[in-house]
Amino acid sequence: MTEPVLYAQDLTKTYSMNGATVHALRQVNLTIEPSEFVAIIGPSGCGKSTLLSLLGGLMTPTSGHVMLAGKDLAALKERDKAQIRRQHVGFIFQSYDLLVDLTAAENVEFPMVLAGVPAEDRHTRAIALLDRVGLADKANHLPDELSGGQKQRVAIARALSNHPDLVLADEPTGNLDSTTAGEIMSLLSDLNRTDGVTLVMVTHAPEDAARAHRIIRLQDGRIQD
Ligand SMILES: Nc1ncnc2c1ncn2[C@@H]1O[C@H](COP(=O)(O)OP(=O)(O)OP(=O)(O)O)[C@@H](O)[C@H]1O
Ligand SMILES: [Mg+2]
Repeated sequence: MTEPVLYAQDLTKTYSMNGATVHALRQVNLTIEPSEFVAIIGPSGCGKSTLLSLLGGLMTPTSGHVMLAGKDLAALKERDKAQIRRQHVGFIFQSYDLLVDLTAAENVEFPMVLAGVPAEDRHTRAIALLDRVGLADKANHLPDELSGGQKQRVAIARALSNHPDLVLADEPTGNLDSTTAGEIMSLLSDLNRTDGVTLVMVTHAPEDAARAHRIIRLQDGRIQD
């Protein structure tokens, strides 16, 4: 029996803003199996990004638990949590989040620097990953010299740098035209199908969600049936 990649139990997140309480997520339970491709959809403000951040251990829940790679994140110190993230998770965000002073290759290398991969190995791997996303010729370009779709492809290459078994993507096509969005989605689907990478993707686009094996609908911080 294989254990789930991700398991969330009674996951709740409330934010306090100017004395008011925002219930971003209410007692969410979910299990993600290895090699699944799951889309999370729902109206703006329903808690999608909050859920993704909690699942990846980027944020701490108000209550409830996340089990990632067999570990209860709540029981881990920040640095151990960071190590679990580095070993198992690749993040892709709508805004790409590339470091503007680093070239495409250096951006892809960055998580490997944190993981202590030797310089030569990480450069070789960065070039191979950029080649995989069709950007071998842009390795020495700065993010400002790339189109939105190219930046997102660099972000995908970066997310793959430490061989994650799980990729968490928050509206990876949100800023792209429909043709480019289709290319990015093909790349992500292919990763899931060919490499067996577990993919959890937040999206607004029905055509992107349609590629997933399973769709989770959020509404007011709850999963709808
Ligand atoms: N740091 C924060 N402080 C206070 N409230 C927050 C914070 N982050 C999110 N919220 C609130 O929590 C709720 C859920 O936000 P979240 O960003 O998870 O929604 P979302 O589904 O990702 O929306 P969108 O589709 O617009 O990205 C919203 O009401 C939002 O205003
Ligand atoms: Mg969001």
